[in-house]
Parts: sequence; C-alpha cells; structure tokens
Amino acid sequence: MLNGTNILLGVSGGIAAYKACALTSKLTQQGASVKVIMTESATQFVSPLTFQALSRNPVYTDTFDEKNPAKIAHIDLADWADLVMLAPATANIIGKLANGISDDMLSTTLLATTAPIYIAPAMNVHMYGHPAVIENMKKLDGWGYKFIEPGSGYLACGYVGKGRLEEPETIVDILNKDFHQNIDQTFFTGKKVLISGGPTREAVDPVRFFTNHSSGKMGFALAEELANLGAEVTLVTGPVKLETPKNVQRVDVESAEEMYQAIMEHYPTQELVIKAAAVADYRPKLVYDQKMKKSDGTLMIEMERTKDILKELGERKNGQFLVGFAAETENVLEYGQKKLEKKNLDAIVVNDITEQGSGFGGDTNAVTYLNKRGEQKKLPMSSKKEVSKQLLQLIESDMKDGRA
Ligand code: CTP
Repeated sequence: MLNGTNILLGVSGGIAAYKACALTSKLTQQGASVKVIMTESATQFVSPLTFQALSRNPVYTDTFDEKNPAKIAHIDLADWADLVMLAPATANIIGKLANGISDDMLSTTLLATTAPIYIAPAMNVHMYGHPAVIENMKKLDGWGYKFIEPGSGYLACGYVGKGRLEEPETIVDILNKDFHQNIDQTFFTGKKVLISGGPTREAVDPVRFFTNHSSGKMGFALAEELANLGAEVTLVTGPVKLETPKNVQRVDVESAEEMYQAIMEHYPTQELVIKAAAVADYRPKLVYDQKMKKSDGTLMIEMERTKDILKELGERKNGQFLVGFAAETENVLEYGQKKLEKKNLDAIVVNDITEQGSGFGGDTNAVTYLNKRGEQKKLPMSSKKEVSKQLLQLIESDMKDGRA
C-alpha cells in the first residue's frame, strides 16, 4: 500500500532516532518516497548524512536553509507529503504540536501540512506518564492524530516500561494497514460520477441470451463507497441480484447497446467514470422474434461485434477521469497496459480471474491499479468494499494532482 506514497518522516531528538534509520530503509524498500526532517537535537544522535543516504533525498534541519529559492521548503514539504510519520516523537515535539508552537523546521512543517500525521512516541517511562504529556497526547488524539503506541521493554535510560519506540517493522505494518483509510472525506463530495457494473445479456430469441459471470458486486461496492463520500452517483447496471445502494441513481439495462445508450446520455456532465461492467463483445447478428425450435444437427449462430463503449468514451473524453476494468486470465499487466493506452484511459484496474479470491461472483477481489504514468499498485486480496476504498484513494490522488 505504501508504494508510491510520499512520506515525510519527522525525527526528533531521542536515543531512538537510530531506529528511524531502519524505518527509513524499510519504507523506501516498500516503494515509498521518504523525505526526512530532523530537529536540531536529533542531529546529536544521528547524522543527517545517514538519512540522506537511506532516503536518497536531502535532509531538512533548518527552516531558513532554503535549498531552492523558488520554493519555501517547509510549505513545499508540507504539501508534498501524503503522510507524515513522527518517529521518534519526544515529549517536546508532542508538546509543541499540541500547543501550536512552530519554532523550527519540523514543528513548522507539522502545522503547515494537511496530510495525516502518525505519531510514534519514545521517551522515558516517567515522562510518558507525566500529566502534561498525557494531556498533550489526549489533545492530539482528539484532533485526529494517530498514535502508534510504544511497546513496553528495556529503555535506554535503564528503566523497563512503556516509552520504547515501536519497532520499525511494526510501524510499517501499521501504516500499510491503516493509511489507505485516510481517504480525503471531502474530495468526492458533490462530484458527478458514472459507474457501470454487472454483465450484459445479448438475446438470441425471447427466451435465450448470451451473458457472463459478472455479479455486479464490484461496481455496486464502488457506487456505495462514492455515495457515502457524498458523490452524485449514477450506476448503469446490467441484470444483477443486488440492492441499490443508498443515494445512488440506478439505471437498469440489459444489452451492450442499451448500456451504450445510457452511458452516452450521462457521460458529458461527469467528472469521473468507472467502467466495471463486463460488456459482451459480440451479440447474435439475428435476434429471433419467436422462440427458436430445435432441429437435428448442429446450430450455428452468427455473432457481430458490439460497440466498445469504453473506447468511445476515451475518444470523446472532455475532462472526465476515465477508469476501465480488465479481467484477464494471462499476461494480466501487459494486456491491462495495452487496453489503457488503446482506450485512452486515465487508469485501469486489472485482475487475474484465475487467482483464488479474485474476480467474478465472489465477495473478494485482488487487483492491480495501473495509471497513465505507468505506475502500478497491487492491492492485497480483500473484500470488494475494501478494494473500492483503496481504489478510490488511488483515483483521488491521481485526479488531485492531475498527474495520471
Ligand atoms: N468494455 C466496454 N465495451 C465493450 C467491451 C468492454 O466498455 N464492448 C469495457 C469494460 O467495461 C471494461 C473494459 O472495457 O472496463 C475492458 O473490457 P475487456 O472486455 O476486458 O476488454 P476488451 O477491450 O474487450 O479486450 P479483450 O476482449 O480483447 O480482452
């Protein structure tokens, strides 16, 4: 989950600063971009050069050391960060943050960022239990800051108790599990979103049709999440046995042609379009008015191509952020990438339907999100609801900086 995430690591002056080196290395290994800000006292424990080498980025220690005259470093870093991790967080930096004090590079940046801030405290057991520190942590907790509580163990000051910095591995695990839940609650509010889901049915005669195994669950889960975030959602769906999520405008269709008409009607006014439907690529060329009667021998049904809705959306794109889906059984990423380019998409969600827990019908999915910039993010297998949340975070991030 942290792959491609911009992480600002704030290191304050405690002996546990050495553990922040391992943390930097682990975060970088996960594919995150890490930039480090150190307080003056942190530099007494570890050299900035160590963090520079591990993060492969310049390290910031002084508010007035402006490396690039075109930018104000602390504001630039504050805006750059997707997530801020404060580790180790001393009683001092916790106190400053809780009281709005900004007298150095780290404390100033912490006030300037709107990214979620995680705090991993590390201090002597008595300091940790001091009413002032407890009060400050309560205050920050009330404001929505997240604490990664220190474990009990041997402390550098000789005491055994709470106050040790949580182990870097555990911090990385927690960030991996928790970070995606920090979707911007307001980004999708009021945005017009069009989603397609479910299969299509291509009639042969009044009683028979061609279809596929799509259950519609992925499209419906996305519609539900977006509606919960306040988006104006239109869901064009093929025949499925699912209840319409709350606050979602549902349009029922059967064939690929009906889906095409409904999608095209709504398309011009949308900001985001997600095509999770499994649309038939072929339909019977001739649809019988009456039920076909069987006869001896084999039956040939001539099929013709349906319109590729997504491709046409790509051609007519006028500011919409366009996301496709692709279910594949082999060369998953390669085929996904080709579809993204061919259909002029901003992103595509691909899944290998031969993988266990992935694809049609089930309640779980395991997908990879590819964007126009060639970035790939494999999401762990989880419920379609959870996958929806994670996908929306990625879409939000790409829509926000218009970089996809
Ligand atoms: N799609 C569409 N209209 C079609 C076929 C597909 O809009 N007639 C959309 C699907 O909703 C999905 C994406 O295209 O978002 C990928 O569908 P898929 O059938 O996997 O892609 P194709 O381009 O048809 O490629 P192929 O059949 O060769 O795998």
